[in-house]
Amino acid sequence: MNYQDILNEIYQTIEPILKEGKVADYIPALAQVNPNQFAMSITLFDGSSYHIGCSDENFSIQSISKVFTFTKALSIYSKELYARVGKEPSGNPFNSLVQLEYELGIPRNPFINAGAIVITDTLLNKYKTVDETYNEISNFIKEISDNVDISFDKNVWFSEYKHGHRNMALANLMKSFNNLDNDVEEVVKTYFKHCSITMSTKELSRAMLFLANNGIDPITNKRFITSSQAKRINAVMLTCGHYDASGDFAYHVGLPGKSGVGGGIVAIVPKVMSLAVFSPRLNNWGNSLAGTKALEMFTTKTNLSIF
Ligand code: DON
Repeated sequence: MNYQDILNEIYQTIEPILKEGKVADYIPALAQVNPNQFAMSITLFDGSSYHIGCSDENFSIQSISKVFTFTKALSIYSKELYARVGKEPSGNPFNSLVQLEYELGIPRNPFINAGAIVITDTLLNKYKTVDETYNEISNFIKEISDNVDISFDKNVWFSEYKHGHRNMALANLMKSFNNLDNDVEEVVKTYFKHCSITMSTKELSRAMLFLANNGIDPITNKRFITSSQAKRINAVMLTCGHYDASGDFAYHVGLPGKSGVGGGIVAIVPKVMSLAVFSPRLNNWGNSLAGTKALEMFTTKTNLSIF
């Protein structure tokens, strides 16, 4: 299979729709990005990689960071984690409050905002401070991506902190149900900090490779999690990775994937490769519009969907 030809074909078809959709503006700093960008990267088990578009451009990974924090927390706490966060799709938008109230402060899954905030709280329990917890998360990303050059965007961090009323509400609601151990401010500050990490599609597709290979990085042969944990993370990505559009993503793309409001999406082809796409304009569910389309074209052209 000539992956470079396939990426070139996808780019040509995608170009006319790069003006469709809207950039996230509820975090004002995110609205300042060039909205018409597109990048796509593939990394294979032998380390070879293929790219198209601005694949070296760093962007705000936002909710993609939830895959890293969930992985880290699962490797520390194992099944104990599920006493505080579920593993079922929510069928609701990523920042919804309603379900959390009637389900007594236990978020449906680790990828909606409430669930990711609880996961951050569990990491804060172990690492104590905002900075130390952030350092451990970024060290983990450095390890899995074999890249020491991982950092966050201060501007985006402060912008989200200043405008993060909904996340504050989610955190306060969970605190009232005794499902947050640490100070609300500290937890959301840490959460916003890992959401504001910046990476390129080249780096993201490399970082996710261990999830395609039962928890072992196929290039360095390092194991990061058990194969059972890798199976679970992929399952939660498939069923919850795109919030109330997870069914739509499974239907059209057919891969475990995770989106972020910065316009990035990562996807896993088990036993074969990991992929990342970036295009900042979003569809109505808050997921990259052109990115989703590009991944759909990829699995259609290659027959590499899991179904
Ligand atoms: O908490 C938020 O709203 C953002 N930091 C992350 C949301 C997000 O990326 C949703 N994904 N599509």
